[in-house]
Amino acid sequence: MDLGLAGRSVLITGGSGGLGGTMAQVFAAEGARVALTYHRNKDAASAVVETVEKGGGQALALPYDLGDEESIRSATDAVTSAWGGIDVLVVNASPARGPDEHRGPFETVPPEQWRAQLREEVEGAFHTVQAVLPGMKARGWGRIVLMSASIVNRGMRGEEAYVASKAALHGLNRTLATELVGHGILSNAVAPGPTVTANLLPKVPPEIRATLAGLSPAEIQSVLNERIPHLRFGLPEDVANVVAFLGSDANRHVTGSVVNVAGGH
Ligand SMILES: NC(=O)c1ccc[n+]([C@@H]2O[C@H](COP(=O)([O-])OP(=O)(O)OC[C@H]3O[C@@H](n4cnc5c(N)ncnc54)[C@H](OP(=O)(O)O)[C@@H]3O)[C@@H](O)[C@H]2O)c1
Repeated sequence: MDLGLAGRSVLITGGSGGLGGTMAQVFAAEGARVALTYHRNKDAASAVVETVEKGGGQALALPYDLGDEESIRSATDAVTSAWGGIDVLVVNASPARGPDEHRGPFETVPPEQWRAQLREEVEGAFHTVQAVLPGMKARGWGRIVLMSASIVNRGMRGEEAYVASKAALHGLNRTLATELVGHGILSNAVAPGPTVTANLLPKVPPEIRATLAGLSPAEIQSVLNERIPHLRFGLPEDVANVVAFLGSDANRHVTGSVVNVAGGH
């Protein structure tokens, strides 16, 4: 299937991270120009740009801070000046949570931790989508993908603010889909289950983590699926391929959906 992405301009926020970096490579392999953002890990973003360029693609790495409207505007302006506009937006960046962050019980969650997560996840999405919409409307074509998480469906102890902030994106997604479909702009959310990224490994029980050193992502997936059978672990490309389809011209009629990419979980 031709996704019709050749020559399209794609902005992936949080492209220095595990899933965003893989998405950048998948979009670039389809012939799209890919801008990806970083917050703290410029080197990781530059490495993704290098990989895309080695494969003959075009990529840009840009600083971006979910909590700073001006930095969001600068990143979207930079893509527009480089490539004339943003056809596809993937809202993928999500505030990093340190190991020392408080994780429940709920009545003890510090209000400032709650506010920071809600503000960055939801307002970051708000400002980024607002910045790209005028260009998409002017061209009469656009695709938006908001990255959620499958735990929104079940909830998770210790992840109250994260789950609540991702759930807010579901409401935003429905509203964008309804408002924008007449402009040729489709909006969807993707909700991954646990996926083998660097981010996931610290959450794996230490006795299992100790057996994973030196293994490839596919080997890690296989060990985790065997040792933790009540979950299904995916690979970054399992998620990135779905995002690329939803963000493409081949997607003509899916909008307002939340697509779980979680192995049935
Ligand atoms: N991996 C999973 O198992 C999983 C499961 C469900 C949902 N998800 C969702 O999928 C998306 C990608 O996940 P991931 O595992 O690839 O995450 P990740 O590796 O932690 O990457 C997160 C990205 O967000 C950026 N970021 C963090 N704080 C930021 C801030 N304040 N301002 C701007 N950017 C910021 C990071 O930039 P720097 O690194 O440059 O600081 C990084 O590029 C997220 O929305 C996540 O919630 C992931």
